[in-house]
Amino acid sequence: MPSDLSALTLSATAQTTVAAVLSAMAQPFSGPTETKRGEFFGKKGSFTAVAALMSEVVPAERKAFGQWLNQVKTEIETKLADLDQQTAGQKTESAWIDWTIPGILPAVGHLHPVSHAIESVTRIFEKVGFTRVRYPEVDWDWYAFESLNMPKNHPARDEWETFFVETPASSKKGKVVLTPHTSNGQVREMERLKSKPPIRMINIARCYRRQQDATHTQMFHQFEGLVVDKGITIQHLKGTLDYFAESFYGPGTKSRIRPFHFQFTEPSFEVDFSCHVCGGTGQVADSESDTGKRKCRFCKSGWHEVGGAGMVHPNVLKAGGIDSEVYTGFAFGWGVERTYTLKPGLQIDDIRLFYSGEPAFLRQF
Ligand code: DAH
Repeated sequence: MPSDLSALTLSATAQTTVAAVLSAMAQPFSGPTETKRGEFFGKKGSFTAVAALMSEVVPAERKAFGQWLNQVKTEIETKLADLDQQTAGQKTESAWIDWTIPGILPAVGHLHPVSHAIESVTRIFEKVGFTRVRYPEVDWDWYAFESLNMPKNHPARDEWETFFVETPASSKKGKVVLTPHTSNGQVREMERLKSKPPIRMINIARCYRRQQDATHTQMFHQFEGLVVDKGITIQHLKGTLDYFAESFYGPGTKSRIRPFHFQFTEPSFEVDFSCHVCGGTGQVADSESDTGKRKCRFCKSGWHEVGGAGMVHPNVLKAGGIDSEVYTGFAFGWGVERTYTLKPGLQIDDIRLFYSGEPAFLRQF
Protein backbone atom coordinates (compact mmCIF):
# COMPACT_ATOMS: atom_id res chain seq x y z
CA MET A 1 0.00 0.00 0.00
CA PRO A 2 1.37 3.46 -0.87
CA SER A 3 1.85 5.80 2.08
CA ASP A 4 -0.73 8.30 3.20
CA LEU A 5 -0.74 11.73 1.51
CA SER A 6 -3.12 13.52 3.91
CA ALA A 7 -0.26 15.50 5.46
CA LEU A 8 0.49 17.15 2.13
CA THR A 9 -1.18 20.36 0.90
CA LEU A 10 -2.77 19.19 -2.34
CA SER A 11 -5.37 21.15 -4.26
CA ALA A 12 -8.85 19.70 -4.64
CA THR A 13 -8.21 18.76 -8.31
CA ALA A 14 -4.90 17.14 -7.34
CA GLN A 15 -6.71 15.13 -4.71
CA THR A 16 -9.22 13.90 -7.31
CA THR A 17 -6.35 12.82 -9.57
CA VAL A 18 -4.77 10.92 -6.69
CA ALA A 19 -8.10 9.33 -5.84
CA ALA A 20 -8.48 8.23 -9.50
CA VAL A 21 -5.22 6.30 -9.61
CA LEU A 22 -5.88 4.67 -6.25
CA SER A 23 -9.33 3.56 -7.31
CA ALA A 24 -7.94 2.21 -10.66
CA MET A 25 -5.39 0.19 -8.69
CA ALA A 26 -8.11 -1.21 -6.48
CA GLN A 27 -9.96 -2.69 -9.50
CA PRO A 28 -9.17 -6.27 -10.42
CA PHE A 29 -6.41 -6.49 -13.06
CA SER A 30 -7.77 -8.44 -16.02
CA GLY A 31 -7.72 -8.50 -19.82
CA PRO A 32 -4.63 -8.07 -21.96
CA THR A 33 -1.64 -6.72 -19.98
CA GLU A 34 -0.82 -4.10 -22.59
CA THR A 35 -4.31 -2.59 -22.40
CA LYS A 36 -4.10 -2.47 -18.65
CA ARG A 37 -0.63 -0.92 -18.81
CA GLY A 38 -1.99 1.79 -21.09
CA GLU A 39 -4.72 2.64 -18.56
CA PHE A 40 -1.96 3.67 -16.10
CA PHE A 41 1.03 4.71 -18.13
CA GLY A 42 -0.50 5.78 -21.45
CA LYS A 43 -0.75 9.44 -22.48
CA LYS A 44 -4.08 9.75 -20.67
CA GLY A 45 -3.23 7.12 -18.08
CA SER A 46 -4.12 7.69 -14.40
CA PHE A 47 -0.48 7.32 -13.27
CA THR A 48 0.73 9.72 -15.96
CA ALA A 49 -1.78 12.26 -14.67
CA VAL A 50 -0.75 11.87 -11.06
CA ALA A 51 2.99 12.07 -11.90
CA ALA A 52 2.31 15.37 -13.70
CA LEU A 53 1.16 16.86 -10.35
CA MET A 54 4.81 17.04 -9.21
CA SER A 55 5.19 20.52 -10.71
CA GLU A 56 2.37 21.93 -8.59
CA VAL A 57 3.47 20.27 -5.31
CA VAL A 58 5.21 22.80 -2.99
CA PRO A 59 9.03 22.25 -2.95
CA ALA A 60 9.09 21.20 0.69
CA GLU A 61 6.70 18.35 0.05
CA ARG A 62 8.18 17.14 -3.25
CA LYS A 63 10.35 14.45 -1.68
CA ALA A 64 7.45 12.85 0.14
CA PHE A 65 5.28 13.05 -2.99
CA GLY A 66 8.11 11.52 -5.07
CA GLN A 67 8.42 8.59 -2.67
CA TRP A 68 4.67 8.07 -2.83
CA LEU A 69 4.81 8.08 -6.63
CA ASN A 70 7.51 5.38 -6.56
CA GLN A 71 5.46 3.17 -4.27
CA VAL A 72 2.43 3.54 -6.50
CA LYS A 73 4.43 2.74 -9.61
CA THR A 74 5.99 -0.36 -8.04
CA GLU A 75 2.62 -1.62 -6.94
CA ILE A 76 1.13 -1.14 -10.41
CA GLU A 77 4.09 -2.89 -12.04
CA THR A 78 3.74 -5.85 -9.67
CA LYS A 79 0.07 -6.21 -10.46
CA LEU A 80 0.77 -5.96 -14.20
CA ALA A 81 3.42 -8.69 -13.91
CA ASP A 82 0.90 -10.95 -12.15
CA LEU A 83 -1.64 -10.31 -14.87
CA ASP A 84 0.93 -11.10 -17.52
CA GLN A 85 1.63 -14.46 -15.95
CA GLN A 86 -2.04 -15.28 -15.69
CA THR A 87 -2.77 -14.55 -19.36
CA ALA A 88 0.36 -16.42 -20.50
CA GLY A 89 -1.00 -19.42 -18.61
CA GLN A 90 -4.32 -19.14 -20.41
CA LYS A 91 -2.58 -18.91 -23.78
CA THR A 92 -0.68 -22.18 -23.39
CA GLU A 93 -3.79 -23.88 -22.14
CA SER A 94 -5.84 -22.96 -25.24
CA ALA A 95 -2.97 -23.88 -27.56
CA TRP A 96 -2.70 -27.33 -26.02
CA ILE A 97 -3.43 -30.03 -28.58
CA ASP A 98 -4.80 -33.47 -27.89
CA TRP A 99 -2.83 -35.62 -30.32
CA THR A 100 -4.99 -38.65 -29.61
CA ILE A 101 -8.20 -37.19 -31.09
CA PRO A 102 -8.93 -38.93 -34.44
CA GLY A 103 -8.13 -36.64 -37.38
CA ILE A 104 -10.51 -35.34 -40.03
CA LEU A 105 -9.93 -37.21 -43.28
CA PRO A 106 -9.41 -34.89 -46.23
CA ALA A 107 -12.13 -35.37 -48.84
CA VAL A 108 -10.86 -37.50 -51.71
CA GLY A 109 -12.08 -36.36 -55.11
CA HIS A 110 -12.80 -38.47 -58.17
CA LEU A 111 -13.62 -37.99 -61.81
CA HIS A 112 -16.96 -36.40 -62.63
CA PRO A 113 -19.32 -39.18 -63.80
CA VAL A 114 -19.46 -37.66 -67.28
CA SER A 115 -15.65 -37.59 -67.52
CA HIS A 116 -15.68 -41.17 -66.33
CA ALA A 117 -18.18 -42.14 -69.04
CA ILE A 118 -16.05 -40.38 -71.68
CA GLU A 119 -13.02 -42.34 -70.49
CA SER A 120 -14.82 -45.66 -70.81
CA VAL A 121 -16.28 -44.83 -74.24
CA THR A 122 -12.78 -43.86 -75.41
CA ARG A 123 -11.23 -47.07 -74.10
CA ILE A 124 -13.91 -49.25 -75.70
CA PHE A 125 -13.37 -47.75 -79.14
CA GLU A 126 -9.59 -47.44 -78.93
CA LYS A 127 -9.45 -51.18 -78.33
CA VAL A 128 -10.80 -51.81 -81.82
CA GLY A 129 -8.60 -49.30 -83.59
CA PHE A 130 -10.57 -46.03 -83.41
CA THR A 131 -8.61 -42.82 -82.89
CA ARG A 132 -10.01 -40.40 -80.34
CA VAL A 133 -10.16 -36.86 -81.68
CA ARG A 134 -11.75 -33.61 -80.61
CA TYR A 135 -12.86 -30.85 -82.92
CA PRO A 136 -13.85 -27.24 -82.21
CA GLU A 137 -16.94 -26.59 -80.16
CA VAL A 138 -17.33 -23.26 -81.92
CA ASP A 139 -17.32 -24.07 -85.59
CA TRP A 140 -18.38 -22.94 -89.03
CA ASP A 141 -21.82 -23.67 -90.38
CA TRP A 142 -20.03 -25.55 -93.17
CA TYR A 143 -18.81 -28.31 -90.82
CA ALA A 144 -21.90 -28.36 -88.59
CA PHE A 145 -24.46 -28.42 -91.42
CA GLU A 146 -23.61 -27.69 -95.02
CA SER A 147 -20.88 -30.30 -95.53
CA LEU A 148 -23.30 -32.79 -93.95
CA ASN A 149 -25.64 -32.49 -96.90
CA MET A 150 -27.78 -29.78 -95.30
CA PRO A 151 -27.80 -26.82 -97.67
CA LYS A 152 -28.49 -23.34 -96.25
CA ASN A 153 -32.12 -22.94 -95.13
CA HIS A 154 -32.76 -26.68 -95.30
CA PRO A 155 -35.68 -27.49 -92.97
CA ALA A 156 -33.79 -30.42 -91.41
CA ARG A 157 -31.56 -27.89 -89.66
CA ASP A 158 -34.46 -26.96 -87.37
CA GLU A 159 -34.00 -30.19 -85.47
CA TRP A 160 -30.75 -28.83 -84.08
CA GLU A 161 -31.76 -25.96 -81.86
CA THR A 162 -28.63 -24.06 -82.71
CA PHE A 163 -26.89 -21.17 -80.97
CA PHE A 164 -25.34 -18.76 -83.45
CA VAL A 165 -22.32 -16.69 -82.55
CA GLU A 166 -22.48 -13.00 -83.32
CA THR A 167 -19.39 -12.65 -85.41
CA PRO A 168 -18.78 -11.93 -89.11
CA ALA A 169 -19.57 -14.90 -91.35
CA SER A 170 -17.00 -16.43 -93.66
CA SER A 171 -17.80 -16.18 -97.37
CA LYS A 172 -16.84 -19.84 -97.82
CA LYS A 173 -17.79 -21.47 -94.53
CA GLY A 174 -20.74 -19.35 -93.47
CA LYS A 175 -21.83 -18.40 -89.96
CA VAL A 176 -20.23 -19.42 -86.69
CA VAL A 177 -22.23 -21.75 -84.42
CA LEU A 178 -21.83 -23.51 -81.11
CA THR A 179 -21.67 -27.07 -82.43
CA PRO A 180 -25.10 -28.68 -81.89
CA HIS A 181 -23.66 -32.15 -82.53
CA THR A 182 -20.29 -33.87 -82.94
CA SER A 183 -21.04 -34.63 -86.59
CA ASN A 184 -19.02 -31.49 -87.41
CA GLY A 185 -16.01 -33.78 -86.84
CA GLN A 186 -16.81 -35.97 -89.86
CA VAL A 187 -15.56 -33.73 -92.67
CA ARG A 188 -12.88 -32.28 -90.40
CA GLU A 189 -11.47 -35.79 -89.88
CA MET A 190 -11.55 -36.48 -93.65
CA GLU A 191 -9.56 -33.25 -94.10
CA ARG A 192 -7.10 -34.13 -91.33
CA LEU A 193 -6.33 -37.39 -93.08
CA LYS A 194 -5.98 -35.58 -96.42
CA SER A 195 -9.04 -37.45 -97.74
CA LYS A 196 -7.18 -40.75 -97.54
CA PRO A 197 -9.09 -43.61 -95.84
CA PRO A 198 -8.99 -45.77 -93.79
CA ILE A 199 -10.71 -43.57 -91.21
CA ARG A 200 -11.69 -44.84 -87.79
CA MET A 201 -12.59 -41.85 -85.69
CA ILE A 202 -14.24 -41.40 -82.33
CA ASN A 203 -14.95 -37.72 -81.72
CA ILE A 204 -16.13 -36.84 -78.21
CA ALA A 205 -16.89 -33.22 -77.48
CA ARG A 206 -19.27 -30.75 -75.90
CA CYS A 207 -22.37 -29.78 -77.84
CA TYR A 208 -24.87 -26.98 -77.34
CA ARG A 209 -28.58 -26.67 -78.04
CA ARG A 210 -31.35 -24.31 -77.01
CA GLN A 211 -33.10 -26.92 -74.90
CA GLN A 212 -33.39 -27.48 -71.19
CA ASP A 213 -35.50 -30.06 -69.36
CA ALA A 214 -35.09 -33.34 -67.47
CA THR A 215 -33.52 -35.03 -70.48
CA HIS A 216 -31.70 -32.07 -72.04
CA THR A 217 -29.10 -29.59 -70.91
CA GLN A 218 -27.96 -26.66 -73.03
CA MET A 219 -24.43 -28.01 -72.86
CA PHE A 220 -23.97 -31.75 -73.15
CA HIS A 221 -21.56 -34.24 -74.70
CA GLN A 222 -21.81 -36.46 -77.74
CA PHE A 223 -19.62 -39.10 -79.20
CA GLU A 224 -19.43 -39.62 -82.91
CA GLY A 225 -18.02 -42.59 -84.71
CA LEU A 226 -16.90 -42.51 -88.32
CA VAL A 227 -15.46 -45.39 -90.32
CA VAL A 228 -14.57 -45.02 -93.99
CA ASP A 229 -12.78 -47.61 -96.07
CA LYS A 230 -13.24 -49.88 -99.08
CA GLY A 231 -16.10 -52.35 -98.66
CA ILE A 232 -17.64 -50.97 -95.45
CA THR A 233 -21.24 -52.17 -95.05
CA ILE A 234 -24.15 -51.99 -92.62
CA GLN A 235 -22.90 -55.24 -91.10
CA HIS A 236 -19.79 -53.45 -89.88
CA LEU A 237 -21.99 -50.79 -88.34
CA LYS A 238 -24.22 -53.35 -86.62
CA GLY A 239 -21.21 -55.31 -85.36
CA THR A 240 -19.68 -52.14 -83.92
CA LEU A 241 -22.94 -51.23 -82.16
CA ASP A 242 -23.26 -54.71 -80.65
CA TYR A 243 -19.65 -54.57 -79.51
CA PHE A 244 -20.25 -51.22 -77.83
CA ALA A 245 -23.53 -52.37 -76.22
CA GLU A 246 -21.88 -55.38 -74.58
CA SER A 247 -18.71 -53.52 -73.59
CA PHE A 248 -20.48 -50.54 -72.06
CA TYR A 249 -23.62 -52.09 -70.55
CA GLY A 250 -22.49 -55.64 -69.94
CA PRO A 251 -22.73 -59.07 -71.61
CA GLY A 252 -26.02 -59.92 -73.25
CA THR A 253 -26.95 -56.32 -74.17
CA LYS A 254 -28.10 -56.15 -77.77
CA SER A 255 -28.37 -53.32 -80.25
CA ARG A 256 -31.20 -52.74 -82.68
CA ILE A 257 -31.38 -50.41 -85.70
CA ARG A 258 -34.65 -48.95 -87.02
CA PRO A 259 -35.10 -47.05 -90.30
CA PHE A 260 -34.97 -43.28 -89.84
CA HIS A 261 -33.88 -40.19 -91.72
CA PHE A 262 -30.78 -38.04 -91.42
CA GLN A 263 -29.47 -35.86 -94.21
CA PHE A 264 -25.91 -37.07 -93.77
CA THR A 265 -26.52 -40.82 -93.93
CA GLU A 266 -28.29 -43.07 -96.42
CA PRO A 267 -29.76 -45.34 -95.27
CA SER A 268 -30.21 -43.86 -91.79
CA PHE A 269 -31.21 -45.54 -88.55
CA GLU A 270 -32.14 -44.91 -85.01
CA VAL A 271 -30.19 -47.06 -82.60
CA ASP A 272 -31.67 -48.80 -79.55
CA PHE A 273 -30.06 -50.90 -76.85
CA SER A 274 -31.87 -53.69 -75.04
CA CYS A 275 -33.04 -52.84 -71.52
CA HIS A 276 -31.01 -54.51 -68.81
CA VAL A 277 -33.90 -54.43 -66.33
CA CYS A 278 -36.24 -56.66 -68.37
CA GLY A 279 -33.61 -58.20 -70.64
CA GLY A 280 -35.21 -56.62 -73.71
CA THR A 281 -38.62 -58.26 -73.18
CA GLY A 282 -40.44 -55.17 -71.89
CA GLN A 283 -41.89 -57.23 -69.04
CA VAL A 284 -40.77 -58.09 -65.55
CA ALA A 285 -42.05 -60.65 -63.06
CA ASP A 286 -44.69 -59.33 -60.63
CA SER A 287 -46.22 -61.74 -58.11
CA GLU A 288 -49.13 -59.38 -57.41
CA SER A 289 -50.40 -59.17 -60.97
CA ASP A 290 -52.84 -61.76 -62.44
CA THR A 291 -50.49 -62.63 -65.25
CA GLY A 292 -47.48 -62.80 -62.94
CA LYS A 293 -45.89 -60.06 -65.05
CA ARG A 294 -46.01 -56.30 -65.51
CA LYS A 295 -44.62 -53.77 -67.96
CA CYS A 296 -40.98 -52.80 -67.34
CA ARG A 297 -41.09 -49.28 -65.92
CA PHE A 298 -37.57 -48.45 -67.01
CA CYS A 299 -37.99 -48.93 -70.76
CA LYS A 300 -41.70 -49.75 -71.30
CA SER A 301 -40.84 -51.59 -74.52
CA GLY A 302 -37.70 -53.62 -73.93
CA TRP A 303 -35.49 -51.08 -75.68
CA HIS A 304 -33.89 -47.70 -75.05
CA GLU A 305 -33.36 -45.33 -77.92
CA VAL A 306 -29.90 -43.80 -77.76
CA GLY A 307 -29.04 -42.07 -81.01
CA GLY A 308 -28.60 -42.12 -84.73
CA ALA A 309 -26.44 -43.91 -87.25
CA GLY A 310 -26.23 -44.78 -90.92
CA MET A 311 -24.09 -45.22 -94.01
CA VAL A 312 -22.24 -42.01 -94.82
CA HIS A 313 -24.04 -40.09 -97.59
CA PRO A 314 -22.01 -39.79 -100.83
CA ASN A 315 -22.33 -35.99 -100.62
CA VAL A 316 -20.59 -36.01 -97.23
CA LEU A 317 -17.72 -38.12 -98.59
CA LYS A 318 -17.55 -35.71 -101.50
CA ALA A 319 -17.39 -32.69 -99.14
CA GLY A 320 -14.40 -34.38 -97.48
CA GLY A 321 -12.73 -35.02 -100.84
CA ILE A 322 -13.34 -38.79 -100.80
CA ASP A 323 -14.46 -40.72 -103.89
CA SER A 324 -17.78 -42.37 -103.01
CA GLU A 325 -17.40 -44.78 -105.93
CA VAL A 326 -14.38 -46.33 -104.23
CA TYR A 327 -15.09 -45.85 -100.53
CA THR A 328 -18.07 -46.33 -98.25
CA GLY A 329 -18.47 -45.65 -94.58
CA PHE A 330 -20.73 -45.69 -91.57
CA ALA A 331 -21.27 -43.12 -88.83
CA PHE A 332 -23.10 -42.96 -85.55
CA GLY A 333 -23.53 -40.39 -82.84
CA TRP A 334 -25.29 -39.81 -79.56
CA GLY A 335 -25.24 -38.21 -76.14
CA VAL A 336 -22.78 -39.26 -73.46
CA GLU A 337 -25.08 -38.25 -70.60
CA ARG A 338 -28.04 -40.18 -72.01
CA THR A 339 -25.94 -43.25 -72.73
CA TYR A 340 -24.54 -43.12 -69.22
CA THR A 341 -27.87 -42.76 -67.40
CA LEU A 342 -29.05 -46.03 -68.95
CA LYS A 343 -26.30 -47.95 -67.18
CA PRO A 344 -27.52 -50.76 -64.91
CA GLY A 345 -27.95 -49.64 -61.33
CA LEU A 346 -28.06 -45.89 -61.98
CA GLN A 347 -31.41 -44.25 -61.46
CA ILE A 348 -30.86 -40.76 -62.73
CA ASP A 349 -34.12 -39.31 -63.93
CA ASP A 350 -32.86 -35.78 -64.54
CA ILE A 351 -29.61 -35.22 -66.41
CA ARG A 352 -29.43 -31.61 -65.23
CA LEU A 353 -28.15 -33.08 -61.95
CA PHE A 354 -24.83 -33.75 -63.67
CA TYR A 355 -24.22 -30.04 -63.97
CA SER A 356 -25.79 -28.94 -60.70
CA GLY A 357 -22.41 -29.05 -58.93
CA GLU A 358 -24.26 -30.70 -56.06
CA PRO A 359 -21.68 -32.56 -53.92
CA ALA A 360 -24.35 -34.83 -52.41
CA PHE A 361 -25.16 -36.07 -55.93
CA LEU A 362 -21.57 -36.31 -57.15
CA ARG A 363 -20.31 -38.14 -54.06
CA GLN A 364 -22.42 -41.18 -55.00
CA PHE A 365 -20.24 -42.09 -57.95
N1 DAH B 1 -25.76 -35.85 -85.25
C1 DAH B 1 -26.98 -36.54 -84.93
C2 DAH B 1 -27.70 -35.82 -83.80
O1 DAH B 1 -27.10 -35.06 -83.10
C3 DAH B 1 -26.74 -37.95 -84.53
C4 DAH B 1 -26.22 -38.77 -85.64
C5 DAH B 1 -27.11 -39.43 -86.48
C6 DAH B 1 -24.86 -38.89 -85.87
C7 DAH B 1 -26.66 -40.20 -87.52
C8 DAH B 1 -24.39 -39.66 -86.93
C9 DAH B 1 -25.32 -40.34 -87.75
O2 DAH B 1 -23.10 -39.81 -87.19
O3 DAH B 1 -24.84 -41.10 -88.75
O4 DAH B 1 -28.84 -36.00 -83.60
